[in-house]
Amino acid sequence: MRKVEIFDTTLRDGEQTPGVNLNTLEKLEIAKQLERLGVDVIEAGFPAASKGDLEAVQLIANTVKNSSVTGLARSHEKDIDAAWEALKQSAEPRIHVFLATSPIHRQYKLKMSKDEVVERAVAAVKYAKTKFAKVQFSAEDACRTEPEFLARVTEAAIDAGATVINIPDTVGYITPKEIKELFSYLRNNVSNIDKAILSAHCHDDLGMATANSLAAIEGGAGQVEGTINGIGERAGNVALEEVAVALHIRNDFYGATTNMKLAEIKRTSSLVSKLTGMTVPANKAVIGDNAFAHESGIHQDGVLKEKTTYEIITPELIGVKSNKLVLGKLSGRHAFKNKAIELGFDLTEEKLNEAFKAFKDLADKKKEIMDEDLFSILADKQTEA
Ligand code: KIV
Ligand code: ZN
Repeated sequence: MRKVEIFDTTLRDGEQTPGVNLNTLEKLEIAKQLERLGVDVIEAGFPAASKGDLEAVQLIANTVKNSSVTGLARSHEKDIDAAWEALKQSAEPRIHVFLATSPIHRQYKLKMSKDEVVERAVAAVKYAKTKFAKVQFSAEDACRTEPEFLARVTEAAIDAGATVINIPDTVGYITPKEIKELFSYLRNNVSNIDKAILSAHCHDDLGMATANSLAAIEGGAGQVEGTINGIGERAGNVALEEVAVALHIRNDFYGATTNMKLAEIKRTSSLVSKLTGMTVPANKAVIGDNAFAHESGIHQDGVLKEKTTYEIITPELIGVKSNKLVLGKLSGRHAFKNKAIELGFDLTEEKLNEAFKAFKDLADKKKEIMDEDLFSILADKQTEA
């Protein structure tokens, strides 16, 4: 079975979420949970960005043992030196250097020619290689870069010593079909590609980050980068829990797996949400509160007869105790009866029908029916009996 490495950047790209600011201890708490989750790499921060970030990366690198820890650096010696300061004591020192490659970035941001970009990338990777055992190179805005030039940069970075080449969709622009083709193109047109792992790093500006990451895997990506709950710059990064669960559930299609311990997903998601203050929308795939909740009568009846009628993921898979049957105006008698039994009532069919009618009347007036509301309706009917 093909293994896809999971590179978590919740503590770096995720911390670039507007309004999110984690202190060192909060970062450490999240890093330890990411280690329990079984991610292969934790990008703990950007050591050259601030003294605080350098210290946080250092603390995490010295504490976490079962995941590799890395830090981001621009293609400048001073950034690489700061990363080395933070990471030199980690079990397997690993750095992530990046440089933009797209025409827009070359012209407006870097004001560099193609040759200058290649030269700078090679110099940065070579310098990083004098210190780090593992060097990852990212071609920022890769998905808006001319494929031939991206192949040239990739080949040069691998020759200089990079063992992971990351292909970021920095602005969430590419489509699934295109990214699959781009990864296949690189696999077929970079002569030394077998010496490196290709990595996907998708942003969600057009809501395609999960589809794009999965398509990149189809095209040959051996690593996926993302964040927990999909937090990150602008519309965020790909939500890693979505990629890992999709690979698990649709293993028949992708034929790939990860080292992630899926039962730790819910706990990790809740911790990241609590410490970043970024609430998870109820309808979010995999981890939203409604992901295992059923409200309509038809669905509730189906799930009570056989869960797989309307559930493709079991709640237990991601560490949630059970599904939820939410009682509202669309709910049916089957779920109502079930709830009555759960609340300890054993009414006759006639009384149950009366109680069900009273519940429906209330549900027409009230958005959310609580257990207390049901209890009082059922208790009234029991007393009448
Ligand atoms: O989105 C991006 O391009 C990045 C790089 C720094 C890898 O986060
Ligand atoms: Zn990014």
